[in-house]
Order: sequence, then C-alpha cells, then structure tokens
Amino acid sequence: MSYSIPRRPRRNRQSAAIRALAQETTLSVNDLIYPMFIVEGSGVRSEVKSMPGIYRHSLDTLLEELKEVTDLGIKCIDLFPNYSEDKKDKYATESYREGTLYLDALKAIKDKFPELALMTDVAMDPYSSDGHDGLVENGKILNDETLDILAKMAVAQARAGADILGPSDMMDGRVGFIREALDAEGFTDVSIMSYSVKYASAFYGPFRDALDSAPRFGDKKTYQMNPANVREALIEAELDYQEGADFLMVKPALAYLDVIKTLNQNFDLPIAAYNVSGEYAMIKAAAQNGWLDGDRAMLETLMSIRRAGAKVILTYFAKEFALLQA
Ligand code: PBG
Repeated sequence: MSYSIPRRPRRNRQSAAIRALAQETTLSVNDLIYPMFIVEGSGVRSEVKSMPGIYRHSLDTLLEELKEVTDLGIKCIDLFPNYSEDKKDKYATESYREGTLYLDALKAIKDKFPELALMTDVAMDPYSSDGHDGLVENGKILNDETLDILAKMAVAQARAGADILGPSDMMDGRVGFIREALDAEGFTDVSIMSYSVKYASAFYGPFRDALDSAPRFGDKKTYQMNPANVREALIEAELDYQEGADFLMVKPALAYLDVIKTLNQNFDLPIAAYNVSGEYAMIKAAAQNGWLDGDRAMLETLMSIRRAGAKVILTYFAKEFALLQA
C-alpha cells in the first residue's frame, strides 16, 4: 500500500532523548513551595491522618526536617501553625503576640536557614475560636475590622523574618492594606503572594484536620469564591495586582486549571497554584490501595499544573518530588 503520511507526530515520541527535546513544559524543585505544619511541644512528629507522609512538627523536629528538605534543594517553605483550643480567641490575638509559637518558629528557622525563602499564612483561622478567616460578629464575617488584625499579623510575621506573606483570608482590600502596613514599618522588601482566587472548596478538608481549624459554624462562602465562576477571578486578580501583590495564586489547582490559564494569559506577574491537601490525599489514598502508581500520578499532576500556566506550585509532594529527582 502506498499511502503517504507526511506529518507523523509519533516521530517526536520515538525515544526518550527525542521526547525530552520535544518536551514543552518542565518541572523543577525551583518551582515548588513546601507547606509544613508546626505544633507546640518538643520531639513531636505526628502524622496527619488524612495526609500520609505529612507531619505536624514541633520546632526541634521541624529544624531537623528542614535540614533534609533544604539539602534536597527545596528553596521555599510555607509554614502553618496548629494551636490548641485554649490559645484561640475571637480576635486571633495569638497571631501577633510577642513570643508566640509561630513567630518564634519563624525566627528560629530564619536564623538557622537564612537562604531559605520563608513564606507565611496571613488569616485568622488557626487562631480564631470561630474557625473563620475573618472576625465574626453576630454570625457575619466583618471585612474592614478584619483588616486591622491581618495587618498586625503581617507586620509581626515580617518582623520575625518572613520573606513572603500569603494572605489566604479573601477579605476585600487586604493586599493593599497589608502592603501599606508593611511599608510603613520599613518592610518594603517583604513580598506578598496573594491567594487571589481562592474557591470555597471541599478539597481543604485534610488541611483543616491538620490544624483543627474547621469553621465552628457555617461555611466560607461569603468570602471564598463560588467554584462556578471564572470571570470573577479576573476581578480578584486585578485588584490584587493594583494593590501591589508580587505573585497571584489560584487555589485549589486541579479543578481550576482553566482559571490558572486565564490568569496567566491576563497578568504578567508569576502565577502560583496551590495543589491543596485534598488533592494530595486523593492520590495518596489511591496509591496506598494499589489503585494507581503514586509517583506517576504525582508527576503528571504537577506537570499539568505547570502546563496550565502556573510558574509556582505549593505542594505537599515537594519533598517526594525532590527525593525522586535526587
Ligand atoms: C486558611 C487556609 C486554608 C488553606 C490554606 N490556608 C484552608 C481554608 O481556607 O479553609 C488550605 C490548604 C490546603 O487545603 O492544603 N486560611
């Protein structure tokens, strides 16, 4: 038979070397931020049940773990605190109190690992007796009153040595408000990676287990976005851009690859995506059951987030990925 096929896409797939040449998207440890959890005490290394391989560390074991993590080439971590109930109150005052677990940990980490880019979370939920990201009054989340608390938290974190602040609260106007507070205190070099487009998602479940931070009533739908919307994402991103954000984040990642793409096409800032706890848990659970190849699923997942247009990925897989490359 003399049928001719001049264009044969398979030629570019015929060997590992040629596939590597034709590969459009790359993924390196430089693109990753590793979220980690700190808890009070010493010698603590307690695994989060719904996140196999992820631990709540006390400061001593966290510093040990960081040695390993930085030796693997990971250059940025995002630290989250787990506070016991007795430390929580309506105004999240523990979030900016001198000598508190989280701020002391930031100082100790920065001291021991000065090269590491240290990212923090700016939101009230780990410190709030209401389990919400903002101040609650009569069952309502108050926007402008929350900003003052967020700014205090942000300045305290900057003072403790944070390099990148991650406002994850979704209050209106908070990026500009925090930027102004930081600048007024002389922290003009501290960056803001805004959770610009954060959806009210079921995929945060395991994270809330890790922090014991689930809302005590209601849900987060009056501040986090409706999963049905993408045009609204442009409004949120535009505001954060105008207010001085250095990175724009989309969260979660996998169910929102189109949103990542839209932001990347419309903004020249680096786009970040948060490959959240539930996305991690799904792959881990399936892999533990032998239902899929965990390593391959991880690589495919991370690559797809990069392909969609995220430069930066916050992922609980960061250490595993780095180990796989090592
Ligand atoms: C809270 C916060 C959440 C996450 C990061 N910061 C949870 C929430 O909004 O309820 C989720 C991270 C994850 O699921 O991995 N401000």
